[in-house]
Amino acid sequence: MPHLKTIEWVDDKVRIIDQTQLPVNLAYVDITTIEEMFEAVKTMKVRGAPAIGVAAAFGLYLGIRDLPDNESMSNFITELKKKAEYLASSRPTAINLKWAIDRMQASFHSIEDTLTIANVKQILLEEAGHILVEDKKSCKAIGENGFEILKDYNTLLTHCNAGGLATVEYGTALSPVYIGKEKGKVFHVYVDETRPLLQGARITAFELKEAGIPVTLICDNMAAPVMAQGKIDAVIVGADRITANGDFANKIGTYSLAIIAKAHSIPFYVAAPLSSFDISLKTGNEIPIEERDADEIIHGFDCRTSPSDIQVYNPAFDVTPNKYVTAIITEKEVIYPPFEESISEVTAGGLLI
Ligand code: MRU
Repeated sequence: MPHLKTIEWVDDKVRIIDQTQLPVNLAYVDITTIEEMFEAVKTMKVRGAPAIGVAAAFGLYLGIRDLPDNESMSNFITELKKKAEYLASSRPTAINLKWAIDRMQASFHSIEDTLTIANVKQILLEEAGHILVEDKKSCKAIGENGFEILKDYNTLLTHCNAGGLATVEYGTALSPVYIGKEKGKVFHVYVDETRPLLQGARITAFELKEAGIPVTLICDNMAAPVMAQGKIDAVIVGADRITANGDFANKIGTYSLAIIAKAHSIPFYVAAPLSSFDISLKTGNEIPIEERDADEIIHGFDCRTSPSDIQVYNPAFDVTPNKYVTAIITEKEVIYPPFEESISEVTAGGLLI
């Protein structure tokens, strides 16, 4: 259903939509080196937790593909680890990035003694391809599971972009909306603008409009009165990292949205693949929160919007405590409170699906 190609492997290159140019230009960029991929992730040409996981997997392959095939395996692995650490430092909050990088490194581990470097390179490329294909499948399954819960609602509110452009295809929070459209149910989606980088306005509103879904854009500070006016049946957002107790990090502004949803007795859903869970962390207090450049706030989109030389605090994400979450929709099942127990059950078989 969503037809925009967020990220693809084409002609030995990674092709991404440059999301910094949306919605004015739908421009594609080809990435051929790990350094270019680092820059694309850091500057958010490619963004959204699952999409940066896929990007990192291919980025790691790009980082090792030109290493000599006749090196020793231990030197090759040392180089691979260095490149993995470098890529993992591009953005700290979404666990999908590290998950994909770890999975790439584990892909040949058990059999490395019998493999040549050329074999390992091929395995790494194939593994990146598997991660991409699995992301498509998981997001579609999230949509199917989410639709079952949301199908009796008509209006949804979302924050930031957890749609197709944040993943390979269907998205997480927007996947039930796309699955709904395929089944003949059309939701009306209210979209928070999402300051400072306007992912809601620039990206979510763009992709929903492209898909023919009715959209109403609101500024972030309008969500409470819009809820009070009875315009919202349910809130659904994505996640960058979910801890063992169900706390989760998502785009800054999600926490306040969760509080005001609770104040209006509106259900609040999180949609995320198992690759967004970090059960090594007990609570959301342990999640590293990315802080971005002050310029995004005082000089966004080529226009100065405040006096210069002032102090600015620009955390890109916040943590929503589990008590505000009605349910977490995954590709495997929908998880309900108490989250400590349900998350431990759903992740019992491991997170490498
Ligand atoms: O800074 P961004 O644009 O990468 O932040 C994206 C979000 O916060 C998304 O909601 C999250 O990654 C989930 S994407 C399916």
